[in-house]
Amino acid sequence: MVKKLVSGIIGLMPLPLTLVAVANKGNVPDVFTASWVGVLCTDPLYIGVGIGAGSYSHELIEDNGEFTVNVMQEGFVREMDRLGSTSGRDFDKFEQARLTPHPAKEVKAPTVLEAAISIECKVQDVVRLGSHDFYIGRALATHVDESVLDGDKINVEELRPVSYAADSYWSIGRKLGQVGSGLE
Ligand SMILES: Cc1cc2nc3c(=O)[nH]c(=O)nc-3n(C[C@H](O)[C@H](O)[C@H](O)COP(=O)(O)O)c2cc1C
Repeated sequence: MVKKLVSGIIGLMPLPLTLVAVANKGNVPDVFTASWVGVLCTDPLYIGVGIGAGSYSHELIEDNGEFTVNVMQEGFVREMDRLGSTSGRDFDKFEQARLTPHPAKEVKAPTVLEAAISIECKVQDVVRLGSHDFYIGRALATHVDESVLDGDKINVEELRPVSYAADSYWSIGRKLGQVGSGLE
């Protein structure tokens, strides 16, 4: 194996493809495509999201400190692609994507009604990094559509989430094994 030193490549992949929604004062919430998203702590659950400093959602989250992370099924990949290049400064992005803002339980930011999973988060801390600021959100509520649940677990084959890697969208592939099974 010959490894080349590279720059300008995000080597961490795949990343989750999600929709992050933020409330605004005028009642037209914003929603944008986000892959710089991850689980930071499981108990209590914390979700981090990197938000571009010039974006409209950045302006809104600075104002109200709340967001929701929404996991969409692969049938929504077109909408997610579109919501990753238009700004809520110019459009009502929910309307543009024909998605429905739905009142959350614990935060003012809406969830996306069509999402299979929505996680309501309250910003606890912000790390100022550069092109993006990193928002550390305490998860206050998680909503999961019954159709993707198998008891208390998510059925990934039903969920059909989308991943992002190397400027492309991907569906999840073959299951390799169960955690803790030794994969023998
Ligand atoms: C695949 C993909 C992933 C993206 N991930 C992020 C992200 O994690 N954070 C971010 O701030 N912008 C991300 N973007 C860009 C925003 O979605 C884009 O800047 C959007 O227009 C911001 O909308 P707003 O101005 O309404 O906030 C991503 C775009 C795409 C296409």
